[in-house]
Amino acid sequence: MAATARTRVALLVGFVVLFALALNVSGNMVFPVSHKFKGAGKQVSLSAWKEHDARRHQRLLAGSDSAIDLQLGGNGHPSEAGLYIAKIGLGSPSKDFHVQVDTGSDVLWVNCAECSNCPTKSNLGFKLTMYDPKSSSTSSKVTCDQEFCTSSFKGKLPDCKADMLCNYSISYGDGSTTAGYYVKDNIQLDKVTGNHQTTSTNGTIVFGCGAKQSGNLGKSPGAVDGILGFGQANASVISQLSSSGKVKKEFAHCLDNVKGGGIWAIGEVVEPKVKNTTPLIPNLPHYTVTVKSIEVGGDVVDLPTDLFGLFEDRNGAVIDSGTTLAYLAPEVYEPFMQKIYARQSGLKKHIIDKQFTCFEYSGNVDDGFPVVKFNFKNSVVLTAYPHEYLFRLKASVLDSGTKDDVWCSGWQPNSMKSKGGKSMTILGDLVLSNKLVLYDIENQAIGWTDYNCTSSIKLKDEKSAQAFSVGAHNLSSASGPIIGRLLAFFLLVISMLQILA
Ligand SMILES: *[C@@H]1O[C@H](CO)[C@@H](O)[C@H](O)[C@H]1NC(C)=O
Ligand SMILES: *[C@@H]1O[C@H](CO)[C@@H](O)[C@H](O)[C@H]1NC(C)=O
Ligand SMILES: *[C@@H]1O[C@H](CO)[C@@H](O)[C@H](O)[C@H]1NC(C)=O
Ligand SMILES: *[C@@H]1O[C@H](CO)[C@@H](O)[C@H](O)[C@H]1NC(C)=O
Repeated sequence: MAATARTRVALLVGFVVLFALALNVSGNMVFPVSHKFKGAGKQVSLSAWKEHDARRHQRLLAGSDSAIDLQLGGNGHPSEAGLYIAKIGLGSPSKDFHVQVDTGSDVLWVNCAECSNCPTKSNLGFKLTMYDPKSSSTSSKVTCDQEFCTSSFKGKLPDCKADMLCNYSISYGDGSTTAGYYVKDNIQLDKVTGNHQTTSTNGTIVFGCGAKQSGNLGKSPGAVDGILGFGQANASVISQLSSSGKVKKEFAHCLDNVKGGGIWAIGEVVEPKVKNTTPLIPNLPHYTVTVKSIEVGGDVVDLPTDLFGLFEDRNGAVIDSGTTLAYLAPEVYEPFMQKIYARQSGLKKHIIDKQFTCFEYSGNVDDGFPVVKFNFKNSVVLTAYPHEYLFRLKASVLDSGTKDDVWCSGWQPNSMKSKGGKSMTILGDLVLSNKLVLYDIENQAIGWTDYNCTSSIKLKDEKSAQAFSVGAHNLSSASGPIIGRLLAFFLLVISMLQILA
């Protein structure tokens, strides 16, 4: 990996295991959260259904906090921030943490006070904060015999002794890791109470106290206080909040790649209307949907038949806000890129940072390059325009000797494969920006619509059944280009090994 490009590709080992489980084990092993009853057919007993419904009712009656508005900042430009962050409060008294929002992982973790090598400053425009369990009156340790821990390990831990901590460890493919132990404390969030109006609300959640980071997670460029996993596993913040009756298992983001920041809200979006949603492939650890075809400038890209044919469900596209760019299966990448450049045979291409294909181009890219469409099940289409999938690099940012500004392609080949040798597509901020993307975990579906992320959306207030406007945020961040350094995150968690110490 080029030293100047930061790509957090998570370790393959755990991924293979997870994927294998997800693919070969039917039903409940991996992520039974919402699809426990779907596809289980006749095996589901009536009492299980009743229990499920009773829990649901309790949850609704518990007085949900309805909509939560997360303050968002950052942008998806690799030479500026390359990531989106949200500000959350943790502990009592509550302290602010700037965490990267990541739909490709589950756990929330933050740098902890006793951390041996956490970053001490960030060039993203905010001061880093360490979480100190000792200075929070509501903090408690999660021990290995507690339910959160045993359910994370899917059973009772043989080595568990009284007062032993529940440790976590997450590895990323560039070699960086975070490890520590789980704690339980208050989280403070903004609850929507009116049009463009919020009041602070709090709940109790379990999150990782990062005691040791390695690799890029310990370095300053692009350093964050932690990562807020928005995955669908029980351990994720949204699952925890929803099981405590605080929120619905539904959220949406609108990432503004033009001006930065945007909207990230938990709750039911009533405006804009997302007409069609596409089903999530069940029992997979990420938000994965089935790609039916890819069009470049109206031309269908030939896909190897086994890629999307016979085992179509194994070849989904992962929707991941924690990834800056978009990664295509290698079999698709070559023919795809040929079509992207079809009308531009004379381009002088340079490879920058060993990773990015860039070229000089003086015209309007939207006139010179084709529109890309990914077609999913249920007539859901994801459109990426040239000005979105090509990003501009200023000559001053480059250390490559280029005198002029260049355009670079955000499409990358993805060499990661699942256990059966299947290829994967990962759709990150490059194609998710400037759209309202809706994740309906309860109904196991995802959808989007092109949208102006500088404007506002409307969320349903569960109590009053009214709809309230939530506007865009732009936390001050991305304090200008990071000279000579491109940040392309790849935050898909592929290995989440939870180790008991
Ligand atoms: C959390 O909310 C409770 C009541 O809703 C309040 O008493 C407490 O002070 C809040 N905690 C923090 C850290 O804001
Ligand atoms: C997730 O939570 C649900 C409801 O609380 C529970 O029934 C299920 O067993 C949990 N799943 C795992 C893998 O722990
Ligand atoms: C967001 O902040 C950035 C950096 O401070 C600034 O350049 C941009 O114009 C802001 N966007 C909006 C919508 O205010
Ligand atoms: C997007 O919305 C903002 C705020 O409402 C508005 O100022 C801006 O003109 C809109 N942009 C476009 C392209 O419509």
